[in-house]
Amino acid sequence: MKLCVIIPLCALFTLTQQVPPRDRCVCELINSEKAFPHDKLSTVEDNTSKCNNNITPKKTLELESLMLGLERRLPKLQEDVSVLERENDGDLYGALSLLVIENELTEIKKLIHKLNMTTQGHQRLTTDANEQLKDLKTEMIELEKYDTLQVVKRRQANECLKEGLQPTSQPTQPPHGICPHGRFLNITGPRIHTEGEYPGSYPYGAWGRDPKPEVGKENWYWLVMLTSSNRYANYVRLYSSLSSLIVGVSGPGNMEIDSSNPNTNTIQGPNVVLYRGALYYNCYNEYAVCQFNLTTETVTTMQLPEGTRYNSKGNFCNLDECYSYTDLDLATDESGVWVIYTTSQDFGNLVLSKVEEGEQPTFNQTWTTSVFKQAVTNTFMACGVLYATRYVSEEVEEIFYSFDTSTGVEKFNIGIFIKKMSPNIYFLNYSPVDQMLHAYCNSVMVSYKILFG
Ligand SMILES: *[C@@H]1O[C@H](CO)[C@@H](O)[C@H](O)[C@H]1NC(C)=O
Ligand SMILES: *[C@@H]1O[C@H](CO)[C@@H](O)[C@H](O)[C@H]1NC(C)=O
Ligand SMILES: *[C@@H]1O[C@H](CO)[C@@H](O)[C@H](O)[C@H]1NC(C)=O
Ligand SMILES: *[C@@H]1O[C@H](CO)[C@@H](O)[C@H](O)[C@H]1NC(C)=O
Ligand SMILES: *[C@@H]1O[C@H](CO)[C@@H](O)[C@H](O)[C@H]1NC(C)=O
Repeated sequence: MKLCVIIPLCALFTLTQQVPPRDRCVCELINSEKAFPHDKLSTVEDNTSKCNNNITPKKTLELESLMLGLERRLPKLQEDVSVLERENDGDLYGALSLLVIENELTEIKKLIHKLNMTTQGHQRLTTDANEQLKDLKTEMIELEKYDTLQVVKRRQANECLKEGLQPTSQPTQPPHGICPHGRFLNITGPRIHTEGEYPGSYPYGAWGRDPKPEVGKENWYWLVMLTSSNRYANYVRLYSSLSSLIVGVSGPGNMEIDSSNPNTNTIQGPNVVLYRGALYYNCYNEYAVCQFNLTTETVTTMQLPEGTRYNSKGNFCNLDECYSYTDLDLATDESGVWVIYTTSQDFGNLVLSKVEEGEQPTFNQTWTTSVFKQAVTNTFMACGVLYATRYVSEEVEEIFYSFDTSTGVEKFNIGIFIKKMSPNIYFLNYSPVDQMLHAYCNSVMVSYKILFG
């Protein structure tokens, strides 16, 4: 403030007073305020970001995986010990079993040690974080004293006013195309890698979590396995948490769609999703999407255009083989449910339609692309953008293509790689709740974290 007043005054003097040319007008600026401690603010900022980096969901996941590892190993040990008891007739066979058990014990010891270290690490982190938060708060209160122009205070008051004025309705769904997380950068993982309850039993299937769950079911996970001829299924299996899915303990159990199978309400093909308490999938033997409402246990059908390829005529493929009954790929993202398929009139290229929810759900908008479906192994949607993958090797899959539904822009050079746990990915879907990518391949459930920025 002072600066603003003094300078014009000084200018006035120079103009009005007839001063000899050599004399200078000297203005003294006296700042009665303390200088703002920028360095302090920047340390506080640094410390805050350090604090954030230290405490991530990854830490809890680490603990959870260790616990699960232990949980899985203990019954195995018990089993092996009982085998030993039965076989121990003093010969070679018994000695071998003993060796196996010794190895297992070593592994378990290692796990327990790791768990011990992790737990201690967490305790330290929590205490540290608490201390740091206290320090940061004091520091911020100190710094607020410099807010002589009341900028922060006024802004806070404005925020309060705004909150009071605005109706407290939830913000509507983000329009697709505008991603709340930023740009899709990369993929890390696998984070989770499990065979679940039925190891090796059903090569084709799908799993994940409902992005818009009912109250009380926020942590639930679901699993659909093609239990008949690698083609169809008639139930969705529910788990009350990720851990129970991994160790294979289903509390809620199965939701059966129909008792007589197969019929047109039966699930066909692996690429199904659960959204807002309803399962979306390819209706058996039809070019239509079925919506099974888990609450009412009723099925609603959404017809796709005539010419839609179905019954294994419009599959995803790698160079050597196609994945049977992958004609219709259901997908979820921030804005809802999508279906990715192909039609004769689109020459086998990928087509995608948005599911419009409602009493009678329909397809409102449809986009066509220029990528041939048989050149693609799977697709998923994230923030209104379609991503397609292709087979690189037994270990690697590549996200090579994207189509932005808000701009219509196609890209063929995405170049993001997925580390596979088995050669073929039969199901791939994005979970907008936690930005995870869920895959199902040869009865293995795998998840990856998508990095946005
Ligand atoms: C920031 O962290 C450093 C080192 O942990 C500590 O010495 C310093 O006091 C902290 N500063 C503030 C403002 O919290
Ligand atoms: C865990 O670590 C602490 C300190 O290193 C040690 O005293 C304790 O015995 C360990 N506990 C187990 C179960 O290994
Ligand atoms: C993506 O992540 C992988 C594995 O973590 C890494 O090797 C690669 O360099 C990353 N790519 C980019 C573009 O950051
Ligand atoms: C399922 O049915 C219930 C009860 O009629 C309804 O409230 C809910 O909106 C339905 N869910 C979907 C996804 O249509
Ligand atoms: C269909 O999509 C258009 C946008 O293209 C939107 O304006 C319209 O409301 C949608 N119709 C329904 C029934 O939701």
